[in-house]
Amino acid sequence: MKNTSTYILGIESSCDDTAAAVIHNGVVLSNVVANQKIHEEYGGVVPELASRAHQQNIVPVVHQALRKANIDKKALNAIAFTQGPGLMGSLLVGTSFAKSLAMGLDIPLIAVNHMQAHILAHFIKAENQKAPKFPFIALTISGGHTQIVKVADYFSMEILGETIDDAVGEAFDKSAKILGLPYPGGPLIDRYAQQGNPHAYHFPKPKVGDLEFSFSGLKTAVLYFIEKETNNNPKFVEENLYDICASLQFTIVEYLMDKLKNAVALTGIMEVAIGGGVSANSGIRAALKAAETELGWTTYIPRFEYCTDNAAMIAMAGELAYQQKQYSKRNIVAQPRLKF
Ligand code: KG4
Ligand code: ZN
Repeated sequence: MKNTSTYILGIESSCDDTAAAVIHNGVVLSNVVANQKIHEEYGGVVPELASRAHQQNIVPVVHQALRKANIDKKALNAIAFTQGPGLMGSLLVGTSFAKSLAMGLDIPLIAVNHMQAHILAHFIKAENQKAPKFPFIALTISGGHTQIVKVADYFSMEILGETIDDAVGEAFDKSAKILGLPYPGGPLIDRYAQQGNPHAYHFPKPKVGDLEFSFSGLKTAVLYFIEKETNNNPKFVEENLYDICASLQFTIVEYLMDKLKNAVALTGIMEVAIGGGVSANSGIRAALKAAETELGWTTYIPRFEYCTDNAAMIAMAGELAYQQKQYSKRNIVAQPRLKF
């Protein structure tokens, strides 16, 4: 008989956020994220520090997730955790913790692919949120990945194209660093962009395959541009920050949309979903909304808290896997380069 009531604990520790969440039949009961401020002063994630911070955070974060969900750990049906991709030292903390807890409670352990979870976050039940219909195209944009995926079913996903170098989040963060902004600079570029002229400056859109991305050239272009302008006017960045951010964001968003349009043309699929930290960006959100009326697409954007790294998406993926009895062996290991 089908189990109709399930409580799944999700644990996420792939990069620099320690997160735990409890989901009950697609509804998130708690979603706790401990951000690691320590990396800000280094201008990027330091793997050893991330791993150590996960070790400090994991017990209180899981505790809080259970308390907020108002359930005892004995009520859990399974433990889902991020197996990869991500940083080895970070993944190890969540993996070991999940394994021990599942073993202690004698309940199934479910390994989740972080990138699939960003996509499956669309199936979290929330007010005013509708789930995409299969098949759909998913653009996963984060600090670590940039992928266009064809999603035929929950666990039937095919990568149609991805970045050949940097991820789009890195393009935002590294450009922000060149502009002297603190890490992670993506949200700041977004904020300043909203007050600037997107056509003030022109940045190149790297030419690669129709469904591929390249961002390392853009970062270099920004560096040379800023160096040249600052030589003429040392206050160039300060005086034109809003316009620089707006122009940069315009280029990145247009580039992402170009690739999505290629994917839609190639597959004929007009259901388009985005996920990952960069989908919090106001420019890509607006462009996607505009595509509904201009191109006839149906688009899906998760709620902000399910866009950036979180454990609710891991719990959601875990619940879907649980329904299909996709349990993991107790000797499963973390996979920093996990593929679909
Ligand atoms: O998914 P995520 O939280 O972590 C990874 O798996 O990487 O994504 C983090 C990335 C960072 O690069 C951050 O700068 C970027 O998402 N980001 C944004 C915005 N909010 C977060 N980039 C542009 N605009 C935003 N509003
Ligand atoms: Zn992520």
